[in-house]
Amino acid sequence: MDVVILKDGDAVAAAGADLLQRVLRRKPNAVFGLATGRTPLAMYQRLIAACRDEGLSFRDVTTFNLDEYIGLSPDDPQSYRAYMKRELFDEIDIDQSNTFLPECGEKTDPLDVGPAYEALIRSRGGIDLQVLGIGRNGHIGFNEPTSSLNSRTRIKTLTRETIAANRQYFNDPLAQPQLAVTMGIATIMDARQIVLLATGKEKAEAVRPTIEGPVSAMCPASILQMHETVSVLLDEAAASALTLRDYYDWIAQQKRRISGKKEGR
Ligand code: F6R
Repeated sequence: MDVVILKDGDAVAAAGADLLQRVLRRKPNAVFGLATGRTPLAMYQRLIAACRDEGLSFRDVTTFNLDEYIGLSPDDPQSYRAYMKRELFDEIDIDQSNTFLPECGEKTDPLDVGPAYEALIRSRGGIDLQVLGIGRNGHIGFNEPTSSLNSRTRIKTLTRETIAANRQYFNDPLAQPQLAVTMGIATIMDARQIVLLATGKEKAEAVRPTIEGPVSAMCPASILQMHETVSVLLDEAAASALTLRDYYDWIAQQKRRISGKKEGR
């Protein structure tokens, strides 16, 4: 696990955008797993700017989002489809027919959505880079605490805590869904590379067990310790509860030294 502690949210967004761009340069038809929520917004802004000003292209990219609410139509402004259109897809050159969310249309049986989504991900060759945020309770996607660490895309009941955290986005609390379809933890772990972004003090108590705690379904993000290629990008506030802080700084120092040598400095 590569733990990178950065000055602030802006630096986290820049580092996240840089990771995506590096994958895209290597593989113009990359498959990205994407997240919604507050955390990735600044990173998406940077990708939009790179498309507009630096010739970055998503023309051949495919995306799979982590999750979608059950009971909201795609054009409902609170749906994650609407979020993705507003915050990224409408602003870049991606072919939107290659953008997927685990959507549950009116005529679809919610139980069929998960297996179909898994098959679709497989048919596109799997996910090259999965972007994650983290819930205050350690959830990734909507895999709430006690989710099976071996789970696949399926329906999840949101915790009261998650519902409360997301209430701010709904004018009418009664319109807020309590169910979602989410990629499973095993689905996320299948991605070839993962980047988790966390910013703000309210994430500190979820970040610590993710990196330093035992692997446990009580903190679903802790499973990332078992993945070979994970970057955890944190701002100072989100990193503030880590106990091995000195060690992460020491590693970062050694990395700078090694890359300096490589570049002949
Ligand atoms: C969003 C998602 C969630 C969020 C998490 C953090 O698609 O899957 O796991 O990443 O709830 O949300 P924010 O970034 O709003 O704090």
